[in-house]
Amino acid sequence: MIIQKTENSRISTFDPNNFSFGNTFSDHMIICEYEDGKWGDVKLVPYGPLLFTPAMMGVNYGQACFEGMKAYKDNDGQVFLFRPEKNFERINKSAKRLAMPEVTEEMFLDGLKALVNIDREWIPQGEGNSLYIRPLIFATEEALKARVANKYMFAIVATPAKMYYTEPVSVKISDHYSRAASGGVGSAKAAGNYAASFYPTQLAIEEGYDQIIWTDDATHEYFEESGTMNVFVRINDTIYTPPTSEKILDGVTRDSFIQLAKKRGFEIKVEPIKVKDVVEAQKNGTLKEVWGVGTAVVTTVFQALGYNGEKLELPVLSDEESFAVTLKNDLVDLQTNHSEDPFGWRVLV
Ligand code: COI
Repeated sequence: MIIQKTENSRISTFDPNNFSFGNTFSDHMIICEYEDGKWGDVKLVPYGPLLFTPAMMGVNYGQACFEGMKAYKDNDGQVFLFRPEKNFERINKSAKRLAMPEVTEEMFLDGLKALVNIDREWIPQGEGNSLYIRPLIFATEEALKARVANKYMFAIVATPAKMYYTEPVSVKISDHYSRAASGGVGSAKAAGNYAASFYPTQLAIEEGYDQIIWTDDATHEYFEESGTMNVFVRINDTIYTPPTSEKILDGVTRDSFIQLAKKRGFEIKVEPIKVKDVVEAQKNGTLKEVWGVGTAVVTTVFQALGYNGEKLELPVLSDEESFAVTLKNDLVDLQTNHSEDPFGWRVLV
């Protein structure tokens, strides 16, 4: 790895008590260029702009995918990554689906560790705080023929993060728009999936909601995801989450929640969730909780579901009563080295 350390660290300008997610970047970044059928050297360089023209294929045809992951600092200042091999596997699944070159395990993991290590001062300590890490691959070739590009960049940037969307939100169950379609790219973390989600989300916000629950494109009868998160529903004491598919992202937080729920002895069923069953459960009082999970947010609890013009309120539970909050706390405790790690998920940097 080629290492070019910054001579102008910005760390003294970073106030860990006053920052917003995604706007402040750590001192360094990883970059690696792909050309002539192979990846070049991985470089750790000062964070900053790169030079591209508007004819870059990635922005014209959308060959771009990314990952979201976090590094945590415990009370003693030790730094951990969380299940980074899952993100490595998934970025390559996304790259393959978008006809982009896969990255090597060495590039991905060594790049991550080097960046986190050099920028460890950027990881805010404390409950729910972390360094959010964004690995990405995008086409950089300057060409306008609609075809597979032959130049790419793999990059990793990092931004300090707090727990975000902490207040309970209201979500609209989509009756028209979908996040993904059969045969499409829903299971890839493709940049375009996010672009396509913004307009329907804006419409939901105009209607007074915060987010959307994405339903299937064919019938809109089944829950798929919510906003940028996987979705969970609790009816009585049973938790449900839809199985992953070519339309549903295989979320690392989703998988961790399933395993933590099993460890606690909660009943959890990975099966399709029918909108009609959730609405009926709300009407007869058996719907206890609906929530979303993702790396950035960890957990967002829903307070109301918009369905057919009606706002269906959810019960207000205490943290002790809430399975969502209980599992979130279990996960954050494990990630930040406040609890045992029976799964071997923490990776010391
Ligand atoms: C993540 O949770 O990592 C996401 O993908 C959400 C991101 C778009 C902010």
